[in-house]
Amino acid sequence: MISTKIQNGLKGNAKIPGDKSISHRAIIITSISRGISEISNLLKSEDVMHTINAFKNMGVEINENNEKYIVKGKGLNGLKKPKQEIYLGNSGTSARLLIGLLASQSFDSVVTGDKSLSKRPMERISKPLEKMNANIRTTNGKLPVFIKGTDLVKNQIEVKIPSAQIKSGLIFAALNTNGITEIVEYNNTRDHTEIMLEAFGAEIKTIKDKEKKIININGRKELKSKDIVVPSDLSSSAFFIVAALINEHSSITLKNININPTRNGLLIALKKMGAKISFFNERMNNNEKVCDIKVESSILNGCELDASFPKFMIDEYPIISIAAAFANSPSIFRGLSELRVKESNRLELIRRNLSKCGVDCKVDGDDLFINPTQKFKNNSIIETDFDHRIAMSFAVMGSKIGPLEIDEAESIKTSFPNFIQEFNSIGGNIY
Ligand code: S3P
Repeated sequence: MISTKIQNGLKGNAKIPGDKSISHRAIIITSISRGISEISNLLKSEDVMHTINAFKNMGVEINENNEKYIVKGKGLNGLKKPKQEIYLGNSGTSARLLIGLLASQSFDSVVTGDKSLSKRPMERISKPLEKMNANIRTTNGKLPVFIKGTDLVKNQIEVKIPSAQIKSGLIFAALNTNGITEIVEYNNTRDHTEIMLEAFGAEIKTIKDKEKKIININGRKELKSKDIVVPSDLSSSAFFIVAALINEHSSITLKNININPTRNGLLIALKKMGAKISFFNERMNNNEKVCDIKVESSILNGCELDASFPKFMIDEYPIISIAAAFANSPSIFRGLSELRVKESNRLELIRRNLSKCGVDCKVDGDDLFINPTQKFKNNSIIETDFDHRIAMSFAVMGSKIGPLEIDEAESIKTSFPNFIQEFNSIGGNIY
């Protein structure tokens, strides 16, 4: 994929697809509830298709009709032993959430993934599940993961790594476990699972104090089907937001974007940098906060984001690093160890690719330092290691300094299949 420099800014409305995290949860939760649910604006990307296929493979009927997905839920214990391995492609969210869910089923299963997912750590979910007597064997800590379904035992479990995936995997295990399981989280991570389960009638209670959040789940209570409208994805909008900020003469509007406060760190950070971003029509949609967003070209200042930021903008560091490269002062982003275990080693790929573009950039420990330059270099080949967010971030870089050739850009289909068309529809030039 080649991303070339644009001349007259980005203008108009871009259509941002459904939220990826909420789409996965919508398929999982409707599949294990009782009755028929209708899901609108589901993200139709490869990652979400893998979650859908996993449930079809376990006997759930899921059909598309008039842009809506109709799911015939089987109840907490109605899933069937899958006929084959559960292959989850590139999707870390599907893997961590499903390993939790599968641990408490009455059948055995095997979870596999693509080359990138097979390098990612799975003990972060299997180890805490063992505290509930789960029987899970990883392959040297990674996929394939072999799960012997069994009755789990309630317990109190601490989530030590700030990860909504781990927390959610544990919640799904607890849903099908007798008694009250207590999950303790020291970092407030995205709470889409808790919000959606409450709406489906789960007995889930959250108690928050200063340093921790305790989630109590009273298991083995059937969930009732419900229709869901998935809001649009802030992480996917991030590429359009930053592209509009750094390209002169831009003014764009993005509608119906999820701005859940456990996930809106990017907007807070960009505001700190002086971004002209305004929010309209704030409203609640199935207990998720959504709004419309207007973005105009802006002169950005560098900023320092301390180690409290990653948990609420973990997927946005590649794209905020692009914004930082065009600011008028240096930026420091701290506490980014989790970026090393995403779809790629994002910390290293941000550093390497920004350096290729002429930006002075270094990693010291878990901190990233970006010194903006006036002398950008184009015509480089951007290495992505099949990571969709690295690919889209450097496509945005290309819109300002291009041409840039983005390697293995097919990965974009995992989260945003229409990215190129949408970007070009508001004035971008990617082919
Ligand atoms: C996600 C949680 C995050 C994020 C991922 C989606 C989720 O991962 O990076 O893209 O839907 O729960 P961690 O919770 O492991 O940081």
